[in-house]
Amino acid sequence: MSVSTSVDLKLDPASAFDTMVEELTTALLRLGMRIEAGVAGRVLQGEAEVGRVVRWQPPAGVSIEWHGAEWEPAKVSSMELRFEPFAGGTRVTLENPAWGNVLGDEAQELAGWFASEAAAALLAAMAPGRFGDWFTDRKARRPSGRQSRDAYRDPIYHRPNFKVILAALNLQPHDYLVEVGCGGGAFLHDALKTGCRAAAIDHSSEMVKVASQANCEAIAQNRLEIREGDAGLLPFASGVFTCAVMTGVFAFIANPLRALSEIRRVLATGGRLALFTCSDAMRGTPAAPEPVASRLHYYQEHELEDLAHEAGFAEAHVERPDFEPIAREVGIPEEHLELFKRSAGGQLLLARK
Ligand SMILES: C[S@@+](CC[C@H](N)C(=O)[O-])C[C@H]1O[C@@H](n2cnc3c(N)ncnc32)[C@H](O)[C@@H]1O
Repeated sequence: MSVSTSVDLKLDPASAFDTMVEELTTALLRLGMRIEAGVAGRVLQGEAEVGRVVRWQPPAGVSIEWHGAEWEPAKVSSMELRFEPFAGGTRVTLENPAWGNVLGDEAQELAGWFASEAAAALLAAMAPGRFGDWFTDRKARRPSGRQSRDAYRDPIYHRPNFKVILAALNLQPHDYLVEVGCGGGAFLHDALKTGCRAAAIDHSSEMVKVASQANCEAIAQNRLEIREGDAGLLPFASGVFTCAVMTGVFAFIANPLRALSEIRRVLATGGRLALFTCSDAMRGTPAAPEPVASRLHYYQEHELEDLAHEAGFAEAHVERPDFEPIAREVGIPEEHLELFKRSAGGQLLLARK
């Protein structure tokens, strides 16, 4: 008895093959599994080899053969990932043609396995709330995938914020900057032009890679280190940085007091923080579209200031700069300039330890 699932993609087979192999590899790694590309490549679960690649034929497909379970070594089965062209696209099918045999052809058990291990997971993934969470993570909260990597490599719509922050901090060569949630490292690239040193974290491994590639020269010169890490537990010693930046990140943070306290901890006395976030005036606009918008935390100005004081900053105030002229300067299309007007909701928290 076969078990299969499929998706139709508007991609030619070669692109569908490359994309699916890349996405599957990343997704499997999260589950502790790895498939080595090429014929005879191992399929690993943790350290244990659980199968072998028996066909690797881009763009037609890949076949793997599972090893038998240790309690039933003779019952092997295989799995096929097929890429079949149709007008305008490619159907990608993942199929195990003999999974029923592994279950001994017990129809009710096969139904139970399929319902609990495959169908329920697919149904739950498609429920609006869960899909909204996936979409928010994929695009902004923990970006992944080719589109996000390209977008954060050159986030043109964030460049006005970068300029405003750089003007507020007026970085000098003696400064040591920390950026929390650096995304693709575009802000770091601009900041390092001042001659300062910097360190940064992001909890998306893909963003850490993009940011590291974008700033490879500064890393090679030991002027920059970028690590995977969480805003709630910065992997840096206390009191070492002169400046800190967080832009487009704070609204995703579940425990804002902890994040601000961590930033304060790693700053030296007198160290300055510039934090850009969006108020709920941006909710539902192209700057904060659904389903991301309803997953963001918005603050009143006084709430941001209170949080900074509670985290131990000696001074804190919020500004509402006029981003529009800078947006014009960096080449934001005319029809989107509206998003950057003073009233549009960008908040700049400036604080000092
Ligand atoms: C909308 S992107 C902004 C990226 C960059 N600062 C910019 O303006 O282009 C938000 C970034 O914050 C990161 N992030 C969100 N929550 C985080 C957390 N708790 N710890 C570390 N990074 C986080 C995400 O992975 C993502 O790269």
